[in-house]
Amino acid sequence: MKILVLHGPNLNLLGTREPDIYGSRTLAEIDSELTAYAAECSVEVEIHQSNHEGILVDLIQAAAAANISGLIINPGAYTHTSIALRDAIVGTGIPAVEVHLSNIHARESFRGKSFIAPVAVGQISGFGARGYRLALDGLLSRLR
Ligand code: DQA
Repeated sequence: MKILVLHGPNLNLLGTREPDIYGSRTLAEIDSELTAYAAECSVEVEIHQSNHEGILVDLIQAAAAANISGLIINPGAYTHTSIALRDAIVGTGIPAVEVHLSNIHARESFRGKSFIAPVAVGQISGFGARGYRLALDGLLSRLR
């Protein structure tokens, strides 16, 4: 089984970006921990980061066409703006879990609105980098 993991805009800056909010781990560190955890769970992860909404849409469409079983996505700020990402998830039917490092509900009010959460299997928010592993557990328990 293969799972697509997508990181949206500015997540390439993890490590130096507002570490008090997002932690000090780099994206490369998060990705390698998740890859190792996925192997323990006997699944493969394909991981991409993009700052561009259309590229994220293309990756979701390509994953669905390639029969990838599910999606873990931290859409970054596109969480709060992107009907296109929501439509890609609905249009492909790929089961998705939304992840946020920070608790988006405990921050500025505009971060409390997610266009993705209503079409996701679930949302994990506020557990830092560990949220990706929690998302994989939740997604696999839904898929298996
Ligand atoms: C984020 C929360 C978003 O509101 C923000 O725009 C991000 C990161 C998080 O992981 O906590 O870029 O998705």
